Amino acid sequence: MISQKTIAQIFETAKIEDVVGDFVNLKRRGVNMIGLCPFHDEKTPSFTVSPAKNICKCFGCGKGGSPVSFLMEHDNLTYPEALRVLAKKYGIEIEEDGNPDKSKEERQHLESLYLINQFTKDFFIDQMNNTDIGRSVGLHYFKDRGFREDIIERFGLGYSPNDGKSLMKKLDDVGYEKTLYEKLGVVKNGRDFFRGRVMFPIHNLTGKCIGFGGRILKANKKAPKYVNSSEAEIYNKSKILYGMFFAKNAIRKKDECILVEGYTDTISLHQAGIENVVASSGTSLTIEQIRLIKRFTPNIKILYDGDAAGVKAALRGLDLVLEQDLNVKVVLLPEGEDPDSYAQAIGTEAFVKYLDEKATDFILFKMNLLMEEAKGDPVKRSDLIKDIVSSISKIPDPIKRSVYVRECALQLDVGEKVLINAVNKNVVGNIQSRQRQQEINERRANRNAFEEAGFPEEDHSGNNDDEFGLPDSKSDNKEFESIGFQEKDIARILINFGHQNFNDDKTIAQFIFTNIGEIMDAFKTAPYNSIVFEYLEAVKNKTSLSPQHFLNHSDQKIREVALNFNSSPYEYSPGWKERFNITTSQPEPDQNFISDTTQALMRFKLEKIKELCEENLERIKSIAGEKDQAKENRYMQVHIRLKKMEKELTDQLNTVVLKQ
Ligand code: UTP
Ligand code: MN
Repeated sequence: MISQKTIAQIFETAKIEDVVGDFVNLKRRGVNMIGLCPFHDEKTPSFTVSPAKNICKCFGCGKGGSPVSFLMEHDNLTYPEALRVLAKKYGIEIEEDGNPDKSKEERQHLESLYLINQFTKDFFIDQMNNTDIGRSVGLHYFKDRGFREDIIERFGLGYSPNDGKSLMKKLDDVGYEKTLYEKLGVVKNGRDFFRGRVMFPIHNLTGKCIGFGGRILKANKKAPKYVNSSEAEIYNKSKILYGMFFAKNAIRKKDECILVEGYTDTISLHQAGIENVVASSGTSLTIEQIRLIKRFTPNIKILYDGDAAGVKAALRGLDLVLEQDLNVKVVLLPEGEDPDSYAQAIGTEAFVKYLDEKATDFILFKMNLLMEEAKGDPVKRSDLIKDIVSSISKIPDPIKRSVYVRECALQLDVGEKVLINAVNKNVVGNIQSRQRQQEINERRANRNAFEEAGFPEEDHSGNNDDEFGLPDSKSDNKEFESIGFQEKDIARILINFGHQNFNDDKTIAQFIFTNIGEIMDAFKTAPYNSIVFEYLEAVKNKTSLSPQHFLNHSDQKIREVALNFNSSPYEYSPGWKERFNITTSQPEPDQNFISDTTQALMRFKLEKIKELCEENLERIKSIAGEKDQAKENRYMQVHIRLKKMEKELTDQLNTVVLKQ
């Protein structure tokens, strides 16, 4: 298990903008940064990163969190896995402590899979560089194809010996489980799977080896040119793009992703200094792959081999890309060339120039290709028009659509009106529903902006439950009135402000516990009760807990709660402050925590008193038949006292609220 000390160090070091920035293209907006949410599909960025609070949150889908929880969600990691990724990223040495971590079997399972792959990758690299056969066959092959040593090293290329057992033997020697390495498919049916092949390790976005492609050395009609690792928990061909780990920064910087088909194409272009390149690995593009690209850029340039018979079929599949509102350009390479051969043949400069000159907008490219075919054939021509109309209607942006309609009408020599009508018919179904969804999201975000800027909600009870505007399925209005909400409010204050000073000798947390210490068992709602009790322990030990502690908590429920308490979509904008004089009428919540705390406590007590009152009334009812006057009097006294306390508290609360 990772020691508490290391965990604390990771929390202190990890910066949310770095961590999110590895996956999302972020732009500054005021004190925050904003980008397209990596967790759902969106057109307008609503994924907000707050460097000051060290958290992120999507105001479309609600996902986000601290650096740790972001990574967990994004890369499907467990808590310790995410910690390890961060430790590696920031060069923090992990100190382990002795407690075995039994409940984390699943994590260990996945970790073992990664470990075996890494071990296998190292083995292939070692075989290629440090054995005679490896050098003369494997390394020679790559060098012969013109790959430089630094590139061979960067992509982790290697060689798998032909004997069929040396990898397995090594894996056994080290003690890796047979079921695991067979599951990964590096060994199958008791034999090394990639016998006598040159090896291309495949990495995920964080650079972990998730699988392999192995290329045969000599053309052989019976054996496939490339074979791959088995698709298991960590390798899913349709969800990854080969080379993304090495390309992501360049893609972001160039604001364009070049898509090729093969491993060698990717590597060759990287070698040529064109680093914003990834490969679909020979299969047709999937929606997951498109979304992966879209996290980094909306611009995609697809390179096709000149002799690819399947170009047209491939183009049909590309409507998927249009639906995702990406800008797609297509480049056809000269007959008989693929990106690897062509870049090596003409050199970087000429290759880049070729791409610039030949890049054609996808729809126009498709139209030209089909027009060529349909020459003089009216049936084909009408099919072509339908085809183009269908492609255009997949584009969500109406302005872009109308530009295409005009251009295509011109080139096809069809009336623009006819084309518009045809497109509109198609559009109605598939676009509008999507736009409706988007409008809902945008309205939601706007509402948040208003509320955050201090515009009053109708409800003046002072509860801040909905301050981030996200509909919380559990919190309908009833909850606001219930004790559950009050517990939530106390938890909120403890998390956000517990560590701050209430006055000269007390922290907010100490103040809270001296006030409600005697009714602690009133906390019943999870996870607020856990938060409160954990904090109480800390206070007993004379320490306090920071918001970061809860944002990084090992309990997912607590992390989520802390995130919701902490995030706000828009910071107060200075312009609005001046215009509406917001500062004087309504202090920013972060500076308002003392009165916030006092009020929350009063509300909590008030709720508690009301509850006691009800219980007492029940008791009075239940003894009605007993004719025990003394008992009845006693309970009536209690009732009067409680009512008096209730009134006092209500008055106090009103004064406090009015004073603000
Ligand atoms: P290509 O046949 O274009 O291979 O397949 P390539 O990448 O140019 O390789 P070289 O230059 O001949 O060495 C493109 C991609 O399709 C996948 C691989 O990912 C390959 O890189 N593929 C191809 C397979 O998975 N299996 C195959 O049998 C062939
Ligand atoms: Mn090739």
